[in-house]
Amino acid sequence: MQTRITLEQVLENAKKDIRRKKDNPSESLKTALTYINNEKANINECCKPTYHLTGEVGWINDPNGFSYYNDEYHLFYQYHPYDTKWGPMHWGHAVTKDFIKWKQWPVAIAPDKFYDQEGCFSGTGLQVEDLHVLMYTGNTNKESEGLSTTYQVQCIAVGDGNTYSKLESNPVIRINELPSQCSISDFRDPKIWKKDNLFYAAIANKYTDGRGQILLYRSDNLLNWDYRGVLLRNEMQIGDMWECPDIFELDGKDILLISPQDMIKEEYRFHNNDGTIYMIGNLDYKQGKYDYNSYDEIDYGLDFYAPQTLETLDGRRIMIAWMQAWKRNIPSDKLGWTGAMILPRELKIKEGKLIQLPVKEIEQYRKNEMVYKQVKVQGKVELDEIKGRQVELQIEVDVKSAASFEIQLMKGEQTSTKAIYDVARQILIFDRTESQSGINGLNIRAMPVKLYDNKVTLRIFIDTFSIEIFANDGEGTMSSTVYTEIGKDNILFISNDLVVMDIIKWDLLSI
Ligand code: FRU
Repeated sequence: MQTRITLEQVLENAKKDIRRKKDNPSESLKTALTYINNEKANINECCKPTYHLTGEVGWINDPNGFSYYNDEYHLFYQYHPYDTKWGPMHWGHAVTKDFIKWKQWPVAIAPDKFYDQEGCFSGTGLQVEDLHVLMYTGNTNKESEGLSTTYQVQCIAVGDGNTYSKLESNPVIRINELPSQCSISDFRDPKIWKKDNLFYAAIANKYTDGRGQILLYRSDNLLNWDYRGVLLRNEMQIGDMWECPDIFELDGKDILLISPQDMIKEEYRFHNNDGTIYMIGNLDYKQGKYDYNSYDEIDYGLDFYAPQTLETLDGRRIMIAWMQAWKRNIPSDKLGWTGAMILPRELKIKEGKLIQLPVKEIEQYRKNEMVYKQVKVQGKVELDEIKGRQVELQIEVDVKSAASFEIQLMKGEQTSTKAIYDVARQILIFDRTESQSGINGLNIRAMPVKLYDNKVTLRIFIDTFSIEIFANDGEGTMSSTVYTEIGKDNILFISNDLVVMDIIKWDLLSI
């Protein structure tokens, strides 16, 4: 009987490979690093967000490998540095201690092997002993194997926080290890985690009839992976392909996050075509099955996709996501960069629902506090010092005698972006139609927001080209990009009938 190589041996070999790779990076990686170094000087930093992560130059999409390693939180991201459009994917790399201030690190992996020649697609990361393990999807198209279509395999790269080396025996999950009736071209985005000394991977896939499903694999050495079953298949008509699974424990429950493509709109939910949902349920490791009790869209804004989470040293579950939606033009391409991440959020469960709060670390960066209590708004109200393109607003509105109120953000003479609360329907409407953003397609969304004692509370984060709204202490969130010209920064409060507002503003300028 062939004996399996042990985890210790895999890690020992990986250490040697990392040393070799330091002296001898691949041509693709070297070219990318040189290109970024030369091009980043041409980017106008003034037009970049101050507290949201973007790539140094070029295109980014999904967060990848969000994990703690060596005293820092690491975030990798889908990256095509050479263009402001999507292309062969590299993994960009940034690190942070507080989720607000990021340091860009050299690109971690580039598409330089036969099994990832069409791109190093999304995946996740994990500290294993003293090494940093990344599991990702190789997108490839190798005709020598008799396959003319693109197909996807799962691969591992191991690093020391700086240099990452792909395992010699990649791919670690090949298409012949897929059960029958599973698509070979939609098999991607592994989420890796460890439980009771075993590694698990949840991988997105498409069943033969086009429905999304999540497959479960298990390994004791990172190299040999045994198929354990279909964790969950789409029986509930939530889109088709399910991308980017994340799965983790929170308050005694197992939470599954997925990003389904081509969702069918419901009244307020799932309007973005490709959207995201969370499920609250239980993962049965023995059966390899996930059962959910409830699900909902994670974020009701126009730009939110492919979230990933990690657990902090102090036990918080933090989520990050790509603040963008597919199939839209992204006007920042004119500036040499495309795409950004959301402000990371802490997740909690309350009464069977997911609650999302901006990471508390953002509060350390607040400056120039302005407080207005019991402001009576009837007609249009502008307040001294309440303006800006890098600000946090905290607003509590008493709507006792009103049908609606409106807050206009990024306001110029001809431009504005609106947050409108409709009291009768108890919904918050986000509208960037008049923002002159130049974004084609969908520009309005609505989200149910309950009144408590005739009041609604909003925390609004504006950063250069984005607006994120947290309603009622994180019960609902809306994240959207708004590419209104810089300099349009007024904020206006409007209501026909009397509403009373408590308003606090902080600048979030020098991060
Ligand atoms: C999600 C996604 C992933 C894929 C990656 C490619 O946004 O389509 O499924 O791995 O982007 O960049």
